[in-house]
Amino acid sequence: MSRRKAAVIAPPRDTSPDEAALRALYRKDPSRILPNALWKTVMRLQSLECRFIDDAGSVTGVELREPGKLLIYGTRTQDPLKAASVKLDGVPTVYIHNDFVAPLAPWFEHKEAFFRLLHTGSELPLRATVPGYTIREVDMTTELPLVATILHACYDAPTPGTDEVTMWTKRPVFDPRAWLWVIDRKEKRPVALGIAETDRLTGEASLEWVQVLPAFRGLGLGTMLVQELVYRLEQRVAFTTVAGQVKNPCEPDHLFRRCGFTGRDIWWILRR
Ligand SMILES: CC(C)(COP(=O)(O)OP(=O)(O)OC[C@H]1O[C@@H](n2cnc3c(N)ncnc32)[C@H](O)[C@@H]1OP(=O)(O)O)[C@@H](O)C(=O)NCCC(=O)NCCS
Repeated sequence: MSRRKAAVIAPPRDTSPDEAALRALYRKDPSRILPNALWKTVMRLQSLECRFIDDAGSVTGVELREPGKLLIYGTRTQDPLKAASVKLDGVPTVYIHNDFVAPLAPWFEHKEAFFRLLHTGSELPLRATVPGYTIREVDMTTELPLVATILHACYDAPTPGTDEVTMWTKRPVFDPRAWLWVIDRKEKRPVALGIAETDRLTGEASLEWVQVLPAFRGLGLGTMLVQELVYRLEQRVAFTTVAGQVKNPCEPDHLFRRCGFTGRDIWWILRR
């Protein structure tokens, strides 16, 4: 009779101490610590090795590593020597702040830069209006396919379909008050869409999707949408973040700055 070896299943690691330490660090300087909204990293913490960087007795940064896959390195200090301690170990993908990218960049063929901006709500934006257009919330019961259609119409690259869009509404950060259409009053149809998420535990909101149909760009609708989102969000969170590709011909960082977002932080995704 053959004897089978019992499979050893490791119990899930308790990530709550790492999560608490990461949240405390992140809140001090979100755009320098992570390339994305905190909840996205917290969600993956189980598969990440988390090493906090200690500088003269205080935690100033974090190195997150998914063995053999990915490394994220963020720190509040600007000391380039800190980057010398980053060990690549052949990882194919690295997320790293601009201040530390130089010594690592030669090892990677593909490099993409992302801006990361912050709105602290100290000055709530004026809510611009554009005559002929109005804002209303997305109807979650009937309009999720339309969300996917509008996303598709706004980008050259592939965009999420209805199933994925529906999944976003099941996440704890889902905030139905921050899914907004800009409606063309005459045609009675949406011409722009903004989607933000709210992480109440962290006190962070993040703008996830902001887009205007190509034929309606340059009219001020992007500004109207972002100002309304920030206005709604900043009353309930401590800060709002947004990230986007630096090499975007639409120059969305200009739009976000115009609406009160600030910062100079650039993150790089390096791929071999
Ligand atoms: C980015 C986007 C939302 C801007 O929407 P919009 O309705 O055209 O923006 P607005 O008309 O409110 O313009 C906002 C500011 O950006 C400027 N702007 C708009 N399009 C621009 C472009 N292509 N290049 C440079 N600046 C631009 C405007 O001049 C304006 O600045 P100003 O008031 O100082 O003159 C729109 O171009 C878009 O949907 N792009 C595709 C999706 C996308 O890239 N989203 C951002 C992801 S991070």
